[in-house]
Amino acid sequence: MPEPDLVNIKIDGIAVRVPKGEKVIESAKRVGVDIPFFCYHPRLSMEDGGANCRMCLVEVAAAGPDGSVRKMPKPQTACSLPATEGMEIITNSESVRADRRGVLEFLLINHPLDCPICDRGGECPLQNNTLHYGPDTTRYVEEKRHFPKAYPLSDFVVFDRERCIHCARCTRFTTDISGDAQLGFLKRGADMEVGTFQHTAFTSRFSGNVIELCPVGALLSRPYRFKARPWDLLTQRSLCTRCSNGCCIKLDYRLDKLQRVNARLNEEVNEEWTCDRGKFGMDYVSSDRRLRQPMVRRGGDLEPATWEEANDLIIARLQEAGPRIGGIGGASTANEDLYVWQKFFREMLGSHNLDHRMGPHFPPTREGLFARFGHHTMASSIAGLEGMKTILVFGSNLVDEQPILFLRVRKAWRFRGASVVEVIPQPAAPLDYPNHVSEFASVSLRIRPGTEVAFLYGLLNVMLAEKLLPESAAARSAPLAQERSRWSPERTAAECGIGADALARAARLLATDRLAILAGRSVTQHPEARAVLDMLGNLAVLTGNPDALSVPVTECNEQGAMDMGILPDSLPGYVPDPTPGLNTEQMLRAAAAGELPLLWLVGVDLLGSFHDPDLARHALEACPFVVANALELDETARLA
Ligand code: SF4
Ligand code: SF4
Ligand code: FES
Repeated sequence: MPEPDLVNIKIDGIAVRVPKGEKVIESAKRVGVDIPFFCYHPRLSMEDGGANCRMCLVEVAAAGPDGSVRKMPKPQTACSLPATEGMEIITNSESVRADRRGVLEFLLINHPLDCPICDRGGECPLQNNTLHYGPDTTRYVEEKRHFPKAYPLSDFVVFDRERCIHCARCTRFTTDISGDAQLGFLKRGADMEVGTFQHTAFTSRFSGNVIELCPVGALLSRPYRFKARPWDLLTQRSLCTRCSNGCCIKLDYRLDKLQRVNARLNEEVNEEWTCDRGKFGMDYVSSDRRLRQPMVRRGGDLEPATWEEANDLIIARLQEAGPRIGGIGGASTANEDLYVWQKFFREMLGSHNLDHRMGPHFPPTREGLFARFGHHTMASSIAGLEGMKTILVFGSNLVDEQPILFLRVRKAWRFRGASVVEVIPQPAAPLDYPNHVSEFASVSLRIRPGTEVAFLYGLLNVMLAEKLLPESAAARSAPLAQERSRWSPERTAAECGIGADALARAARLLATDRLAILAGRSVTQHPEARAVLDMLGNLAVLTGNPDALSVPVTECNEQGAMDMGILPDSLPGYVPDPTPGLNTEQMLRAAAAGELPLLWLVGVDLLGSFHDPDLARHALEACPFVVANALELDETARLA
């Protein structure tokens, strides 16, 4: 990346060289000068309501066309002011202090005196700025505006309209970051309020982020409301376990109970965002439903037991069963436990029946990926997606499968100029999920299921015919020539149920030297997954992007389960198992047929996760002895 041009500026008399065009509020941080703000946020754009709170006003002198430095007649907003050569900024004059007092006095006119009962109290930018920069008292004696308190925007977010200072952080988040644009300003003047379209529910997958962004106690968490004061909380750094994206989070505890989850900054992964599944889905940590001692079935009912009793029972049944046992699960279990579990199974119990996969197909997809490209899941970092010219989202409901990857893909499109091509192997009927990628994709194609390989051949044909590929591509694609010759663009379009022009538009965007391909669940669960992935790999190689193809996993430690050998044909480190065992489906069929006397489930709600819950239930009911390592007595554990 080229070095940015630097300019010389002064802030309160301190000389500093900063990138040309950097916002002055950021430059001030470099020299330790604090400029207060409310609406500014470095990840939110200035459009649609930026620079509106005026809290960051500073005095500015800038060089004119003749080179002389002259003071601007009015104060400027430091959050929107780009640094230019010779600029001089004053943040500590009496005039600036008066501006800040004035801005805060205006903001507090309609702000209720709720601090003692506001969840934001103690960590509130409005409280802090008022204390440091505000007036000592109010001159406003008229009636403040009133709204009903705690208006529910959704199951997770409540809104106190009286406290809102109209900073537009929340509205810009839904426009700039999550992209669902569900929050906007309604009405005008003193009546202006944040709201959803016609007061419908705020259903964003990322709604919880606005709670952290709101600089006052206007947008609040419903589950956390009145649960604690910030100074009562102990914070633990942690990682979210609700999907494979691995967001960095902070767990806030009070009285040994988890009270709330906030995002923790990690520029490489989640930046400072979480999805709602993570932010509001960690309540199991302190849930009263958690099992605190072993349960053993006696006389038809599961009853509390001692560890000795449970262990003795398991040992006796394992000895009876011998190697005719199966182990299922582990995609949300730590690597160390998984390693020991598979070693115990394979070496001590003599069973190779181990699997963590829940889908209908068990193709050796990852091995093919590893053999060809040297990775099993992601080819590039999440942050690396920002540097792409084109991102192909192939067969993925990205916003649900990979929420944080979705945010990066969207960021790459909105702020970095990337194009997005989406291919959905589903008929043109309405999707059963809100397909947010289609809303910004340059090309979104719904192809007939089963035509993925044909589609990719057709795509290559367009690229070769239009000479869009590097010179080496013609020779490299020679082994594909025979099959490729069957898929002219016209025939491909007809087979896939798309227009030939759309195919060509996709080909032109995908023939680039900075391409990322994200293959989703429709690919990994495809009966011909290996063939589809091979062709996606060909697309990556022939466009000159051998590191383009990522096939992310979805469960939080699915990668670890693969690495540690929770696979019927793979030992830890992907060493082929010389005596492969049964996969999940085969184990369940064997158990249902009475051929597997013992099943051991580790951290998996089989009835909720396995693609065929009827088979899972039948297997669990038919199996004479089921051990379930579960956090709580879920539907599956009840059948143990
Ligand atoms: S609700 Fe909060 S974030 Fe949204 S405009 Fe009001 S003060 Fe700003
Ligand atoms: S994206 Fe995944 S890891 Fe991140 S908060 Fe959501 S569920 Fe958790
Ligand atoms: S922070 Fe600059 S105008 Fe709000």
